Amino acid sequence: MLILAIESSCDDTAAAVLEPENRVLSSIISNQNEIHSRFGGIVPELASRRHIEMIRPVVDEALGQAGVGLNDIDLIAATRGPGLVGSLLVGFTFAKALALVRGLPCVGVDHMAGHLLSCLLEDNQPHFPYTALIVSGGNTSLFAVNDPMTFSRLGRTRDDAAGEAFDKVAKLLELGYPGGPVISRLATEGNPKAIAFPRARLGEDSLDFSFSGLKTSVASHVANQRRNQQPLAVADICASFQEAVVEVLADKTLAAAQQTGHRRVVIGGGVAANPRLRAVLTQRCTEQGLELFMPSPVLCTDNAAMIALAGYYQFLGGQLVDADTDAYSRSPLN
Ligand code: KG4
Repeated sequence: MLILAIESSCDDTAAAVLEPENRVLSSIISNQNEIHSRFGGIVPELASRRHIEMIRPVVDEALGQAGVGLNDIDLIAATRGPGLVGSLLVGFTFAKALALVRGLPCVGVDHMAGHLLSCLLEDNQPHFPYTALIVSGGNTSLFAVNDPMTFSRLGRTRDDAAGEAFDKVAKLLELGYPGGPVISRLATEGNPKAIAFPRARLGEDSLDFSFSGLKTSVASHVANQRRNQQPLAVADICASFQEAVVEVLADKTLAAAQQTGHRRVVIGGGVAANPRLRAVLTQRCTEQGLELFMPSPVLCTDNAAMIALAGYYQFLGGQLVDADTDAYSRSPLN
């Protein structure tokens, strides 16, 4: 069986071809960073327009790189939500139209399910059940994953997502968009203990997150420095901010694994590409005797290969969509 998948939930137009047994034949991602960078964040209308321009070339490239044609495809999968509805509608409508014209089954995949399963695309795959941290620009949540279709949420952010905090701090420091990669690069040159930014714990047993206070604290620090005409120690700010985010993410993930009793921990989402988070979690999981599974960075950020895999399981579960099925902005999983 060959699956063609499309992902367009935010600012990446992506398409992939997957064979069952998790062989990714192609995975193409066209990002829009140069369009949104000067705004310091995503402009939804510009994102939708770019998806419209890119959807066909990206799908053609995915088919071409896989060495297959539409005639070889057995199933179409596309992200149905959550995300920016204008962006989602481009990919999801394209997928439904393609399925209709070709007489193929079509599945509408939850983006979160894609991130929760992306580790299964790697050679070293976790067995079920596992505890998963999904941390991206739109989400920061913890889940218990019992099988490829059964996820229960253990905690989530009450305000900003961690990636959103990275992006907002980068905007404040005039570092461009997306903020995560540039902050993590600069952080390597800074002192993580230079500034004592707050860590929101939200109570002993809580597995929820909050990053808006941290973001405000960085904003106050920057405003104070500027008011006092002090030079900004950008690398120290980046390192201290990153450390505060990573510490909370690691603490809550370990606490979640303790609550579930799972021996396996999985991460996913764009922020899961952060080298400091990966290093801290590796050390903490080793200390606790937990197995940690981290997708390669290219499978952490938005991609269509993970949508193909989640779509495959949905197809096996008989969950097809028809031409009238709508996209959604908020995930029922979250
Ligand atoms: O999963 P993703 O591609 O899209 C969303 O669903 O949001 O994640 C993008 C987010 C952005 O907020 C970006 O700043 C963040 O992931 N990100 C990182 C890193 N690489 C990407 N955050 C921290 N460190 C990184 N190395």
